[in-house]
Formats: sequence, C-alpha cells, structure tokens
Amino acid sequence: MRSNRRSWLKQIGLGVAGLTISRLETIASPSHSFTREFIVDKPIRLSSNENPYGPSPLARKAMADHLLESNRYGGARTNELVSAIAQKYDLTGDNVLMGAGSTEILDIVARYSALKGGSFVIPVPTFAFWANMIEKTGFKKITVPLTTDKKIDLPTMMAAIQDDTRLVYICNPNNPTGTMLERDKLVEFVKKVSEKSLVLVDEAYIDFTEQPSLCGLVSEHRNIIIAKTFSKIYGMAGARVGYALAHKDTINEISQVTTWANGSCSVPSVAAAIASLKDEKFVRGTYDKIHEVRRYTIDEMEKLNIRCIPSNTNFIYFTLADYKKDYFDLLKRNNILGTGIYEEEGKWSRITVGTKEEMQQFIKILS
Ligand SMILES: Cc1ncc(COP(=O)(O)O)c(C=O)c1O
Repeated sequence: MRSNRRSWLKQIGLGVAGLTISRLETIASPSHSFTREFIVDKPIRLSSNENPYGPSPLARKAMADHLLESNRYGGARTNELVSAIAQKYDLTGDNVLMGAGSTEILDIVARYSALKGGSFVIPVPTFAFWANMIEKTGFKKITVPLTTDKKIDLPTMMAAIQDDTRLVYICNPNNPTGTMLERDKLVEFVKKVSEKSLVLVDEAYIDFTEQPSLCGLVSEHRNIIIAKTFSKIYGMAGARVGYALAHKDTINEISQVTTWANGSCSVPSVAAAIASLKDEKFVRGTYDKIHEVRRYTIDEMEKLNIRCIPSNTNFIYFTLADYKKDYFDLLKRNNILGTGIYEEEGKWSRITVGTKEEMQQFIKILS
C-alpha cells in the first residue's frame, strides 16, 4: 500500500520532492493531502508544470464578469467556446469535445478505447495518470521505453502494436522529459497507426514550441485524436478546461462514454477560456519568460553537475547521478515542491520552470 501510493505520487508528478512523500502518506487521501500541503505551507510550487503568470488579465476579468452567471447551466457559453476553438484550428464545432481539463479527455478516450478490451501502447516515462486508471479495467498496457536521448521511440512503438491494440498514446512534447518529436516523422507515424488503431496525441505543451499542432489531420483521419488544454500556456490549471479535436464521427463515438458531452466546464472557466484565446499578448509574454527562465535554470543546474535534457516545455528533466548533495532533503527543508524520481537508473527527476525569482531560489538552495 505504502509503495503503491509512493509510485502513484511519482507517476503523476506530484510526488513532492522527497518531502513529503511520508507526510502525505499520513493523511487519508492523496489528493486532499496535496491541497492541504499547499495551503498550510505556501511552498514554491515547481511540481505540476503550472504557469506561474496566469490566468491572463483578460481571463481574470472574464471570470469575474461571469461569476453571477453561475446559477445557470452554461450550454450557450460553452458553445461559444467550442466555436472559438474550432475557428482557431480551422475546424468546425463538430470536431471539438470539451472536458474539465484535458485529463477528462484522456479519461474519455481511454474508457472508450477499452470498451472492447484488448491493449494500448504507451511510452515510459510519459504522462501516465490515465493509463494507471484504465489498466485496472483489464485494458492491457504495452509499454515502450524511450530512446537513450529520452525521446519517444516511434519505430519501437509501431512494432509494439498488436492485432488487439485499440489505442496508442503519444505526448508531444513529452512529459516528464520535455523532448519533442520531429513533426514529419510524427505525422507519418500517426497516419500509419491510425489505419489500425486510435492514436491519441497529447499536445498539452506544444504551445511552448514553434511546432504546429497536428489538428489539421483530424478531418481526414478518423482515428487521430488531439488532446489540448488551457492549463499550461494559458495559465488556467485550476479552472479545468481542456478539449479534444477529432473527426466529427470520432467525437460522436467517444462522447458515448460521457454522460453529458461538453457539460463539465463551469461558466466562469469557459468565459475565461474564451477571453484567453484573445489574449495573444499574455501568451507571447509567457512563452518568452518561460524560455528565458528555462535557459537560466538549465545553465545554472549544469554548473552544479546536474545534467539536463534540452527542454521544449515549461519543465526540465534532469539526472541527479552526479549531484553529490541530498536534492530531496534540500527541497524539503526549503519548502520547494518538485517531483520524485521517474527513472531510478540515472536518478531522473523533473522541475517546473517557475518565475525567475523562484528559480533563483531553487538554484541558491542547491548550490
Ligand atoms: C502531458 C499532459 N497531459 C495532460 C495533462 C492534464 O492537464 P489538465 O487536466 O490540467 O488539462 C497534463 C498535466 O500536467 C500533462 O502534463
């Protein structure tokens, strides 16, 4: 039980740097303890890849302006957001399914794929929260290790697909490694996989890169689903808005496993998401700041003998193999939340890129 909970924390990336794995375990529910830690200790939060600058000013205003609409169900407002998203990607509203964060989208796609049993293919490590859930229903997990440079290994993923494989998951850029696939190779891969199975491409972090989304493929390819979120570059993790982009028939199909399609986002959150899409200044500002602070952090970590994988995201994957101090104890004593170890071999961990001040503090306590 104890070790299960420990690996759960590691897996979802909330495993709070050594800290607190034991303190968390003393409280009944991991998710509640998570909230309580943050409220009681006011730590520097570098564990969950949140955007420290958000929500955008326009989103904050929209949330406040629409609070009083919260006594009404938000169908019309959600339709407005669906249209805005469709327009952004040159698709139609039929190609969009909203979720309370992209977690709900991953959950829906997983549960839909598992309906007929069989297997799914997933790299390790990746964002596997949903996979741990669906595996318990008997949907067989086929894991594929990353390449030595911590990229998703597309040829091996392809080779791992079985006759009964119903879902292949690709996180691009990948969490926790921050590595990105070459777009041409990825396009070729998803097109080929989609002839046999659903392929789910999680683009939670693509806005931190210059690589275009794969959403242009969904009208022509029924088995390609793209998951996206307002939690990262838009800085709305606590507002819980995400969505899927897919062929309209696929959106219809996967909607069967949700009781109320497009019904799980609150009115203020939806209003904020609509406003966020218009706030290009905020998005560009976040992008620039994350890139600058990431550069600073990686440079400083390397000086401390902490080798980092080049990152395409708002987090950094690094090895503690050559770092002589007790990283986790230092974080714990200085009230900084990071993650646990993702890969024991090489002692690989992850840190979110916070503000410059937060990262200066992080570097200072490690020095
Ligand atoms: C790759 C990836 N996908 C999806 C999510 C889920 O995000 P949300 O449910 O907040 O949209 C996360 C969260 O960290 C993530 O890292």
